[in-house]
Parts: sequence; C-alpha cells; structure tokens
Amino acid sequence: MSKKIKVAVAGVGNCFSSLYQGIEYYKDFDENIDGTIPGVMFPRIGGYHPADIQIVAAFDVDRRKVGRPVAEAIFAKPNCARVFCPDVPDGPVVQMGPVFDGVSDHMLEQPEKYGFRLSNETPVDVVQVLKDTGADILLNYMPVGSQIATEFYAQACIDAGVAFLNCIPVFIASNPVWEQKFIDAGLPLIGDDMRSQVGASIMSQVLQELAFDRGAVVKYHQQINIGGNSDFLNMMSQERLASKKISKENVIRAQNDLRGIPVDDESLFAGPSTWIPFLKDNKVAHFRIELEGFGGAPIEIDAKLSVQDSENSAGVVIDAIRYLKVAKEEGIVGALRGPSAWTQKTPPQQMQYADAKAECVSLANRDVDNLKVTNTFSSNVSKIRS
Ligand SMILES: NC(=O)c1ccc[n+]([C@@H]2O[C@H](COP(=O)([O-])OP(=O)(O)OC[C@H]3O[C@@H](n4cnc5c(N)ncnc54)[C@H](O)[C@@H]3O)[C@@H](O)[C@H]2O)c1
Repeated sequence: MSKKIKVAVAGVGNCFSSLYQGIEYYKDFDENIDGTIPGVMFPRIGGYHPADIQIVAAFDVDRRKVGRPVAEAIFAKPNCARVFCPDVPDGPVVQMGPVFDGVSDHMLEQPEKYGFRLSNETPVDVVQVLKDTGADILLNYMPVGSQIATEFYAQACIDAGVAFLNCIPVFIASNPVWEQKFIDAGLPLIGDDMRSQVGASIMSQVLQELAFDRGAVVKYHQQINIGGNSDFLNMMSQERLASKKISKENVIRAQNDLRGIPVDDESLFAGPSTWIPFLKDNKVAHFRIELEGFGGAPIEIDAKLSVQDSENSAGVVIDAIRYLKVAKEEGIVGALRGPSAWTQKTPPQQMQYADAKAECVSLANRDVDNLKVTNTFSSNVSKIRS
C-alpha cells in the first residue's frame, strides 16, 4: 500500500524519538515467511505497514527543538532515548506550540541536560497547520500533567477534523464529555495514557489475570518503577505524578472490576517511584504479588522487567496510529474501545487481554462487523457507520 498516514505530533521528546527512528528502521522490512516482523505486533493493520506513517507536523516548546528539522530535534537534549537508527529523513521543522501547563517550574529549574528550556518564539496557529498539512492524526506526547495543553490539542483536532491519539494520563478518550465532542465531529480517538508493548502495565495485567484464572486470591500487588529519562524527572513533582499513579493502578483494578472482585486501596501500589539519571531511558519495574492458593497456602511472585522505555512505547504507538487511520476510513467514530484497551492504561472500557486483542485483530483485518464491544456499546455510541 503506497497511501500514507499523515501524523502530527505535540511533544518531540524521547517517545517520539523512538517512534520516528522506528518508522525509518522498519521501512525495508517485509513480513517474514511466517507473516511477522521482528519487534512489531501487527505487521499490517488494515493493509498499512509501519513505514506508511509519515510525520507531517511537529510541535514543541523547547528552544533546542523548535526551528530544527525533526531529524535533529529528536536527538537534542534532554532526549536520551537509545539511538538505533541515526540516519533518518529531515522531516518537518518543529514549530512552536502554545506552552500552557506543558512545562513545570520544576523542569525549568533542572540542569540543562535534564530539564526543559523554553523557546521565546510565538506559537503558531495549530489548527491551521493541521489543516494545511492534511494531518490524519495528532499524537499527544506532552509531559504528564499537561491538562490544559492536552485539552487545547484535543479541541484543535476537533476543529481541524483530525483523529486524536492521547498517549498521556490526561483523561480525554475515557471522559464521556470529550468523547461526545469527537463523536459529534465524526472523528475517532484512542486514549488515555499508552501502555508499552512489553511493559509494566501489561505484565501486571497478565499476572493478575493468571492469578484469577487459576483460582488464587490476590492479597497484594505491587509495581515499582524507576527510570532516568525526563518523563521520570517530570513526575518527581508530586502534583504531576498523581494522574500517572491513578492510571497505572487502573490497569490492575480493572481486572478485579471485570470479575466483580473487590479491591481495597491497601492491596495494591503501582506508580513511578523515582528518577535515577544513570538509567537514562532504561526503565526497571519490580513486581511483587502475594497470593492465597489452595488450602490457604501462600504464593509469592517477585519479578523484574528491564526495558528501553521509549522504544517499548513506540512499539504500541506504531499500531495505534494505524488503528485510527483504519477507523477513519471505515467511518468508525468515538473512542475505539478495543484498540484503547489494548494500547492504553485508562481506556473508556477496560477489557481482558484476549478480548482487547480480538477487537484489534478484527480492526486490523477490516472485519468491522466483528467489532463486538464497539458494536454493542450502546449507552455511549462509539461506532456510527457513515
Ligand atoms: N513508555 C513510555 O515512555 C510512556 C508510557 C506511557 C505514557 N508515556 C507518556 O508519554 C509522554 C511523552 O513521554 P516522553 O518520554 O517522550 O516525554 P519527554 O519528557 O521526553 O518529552 C516531552 C516533550 O514535550 C515537550 N512539551 C512540553 N510542553 C509542550 C507543549 N505545551 N507543547 C508541545 N510540546 C511540549 C517537551 O519540550 C518535550 O520535548 C509523557 O507524558 C509520558 O508519561 C510514556
């Protein structure tokens, strides 16, 4: 398929660096004989290959990024994501976006190599840029705590007729008021707060599902995360951290809620715990799960996951972009329930692993009549066929 998916991005940080490198990295990968591409969940979604994604506009507010082509901006400080594909196309020049609450004093006070440095450029007209570039989708990669800035970009999408992929824990897709605005505008969206490809959230979910499926009682579930990138540094500010902790714990709570099993606040903890600059983009998650098994016997699980945080997230976003494009083409509007549950921590509707995956497979095959959850969800219509 030679048709491109035109994507705009707000926030040229580490996650975007990995995504942009990944689009180039995979450009010459065809499916193997068994239909796979190493490191990619779905080689084709609705016919689209990862290399069909084209970045048409980028917004940031840091003076080391604004005014530079994407190819340079993704490697500018404070980005520290692994460089696995250094030769990338120039891409568009990063434009100045409105700052709002995207940048905290805490990040401005950090040393140059870790913190943010505001550009004094005048913000561009974001809606006009989205229209002029013909963007299909806008990707929100701004820092945790960017509530007003995220609402601004969500509204810009509605005004410009662009689908929204909300990768951060500001609740838009999971907020019925915002979802209705997208439905009224005839647009799909996915959100909120991406979960990584093989990340802490999906690990916690499958361990919790495993315990329940094997009849065990979950007494305690702990997920402690450490990392050294600017996302972790930003969340050292307690008021910025709050929404992330809620979003992470939502993943675990959902597995109880789906089975009607009560969960109390003391029986779980999931959240970013500290910033350790030595780790750079290496995120380490420690899990401890205490179970009660047969005859009341104690069972303990201690596990550790070590990943490159931003590449791990790009492995999900490269799919979510394609789900949105297919939904747009198929006339599906509102928050995509299956793809949101599969790719995000706080979707409008949590699902079990297998159910969320099945929805995504149906959409990837353009088998829209098999989108069971999306089709039958009636109180909050998420699918209106054109
Ligand atoms: N695995 C993951 O890395 C992961 C998983 C889930 C969610 N997220 C979320 O994705 C988001 C992006 O993560 P990241 O690691 O790339 O963060 P980052 O700190 O590396 O990048 C954020 C970028 O946003 C820019 N920015 C700040 N205010 C802005 C504004 N008003 N307009 C445009 N740009 C603005 C900053 O200058 C910076 O370039 C974060 O909110 C993070 O929590 C990441």
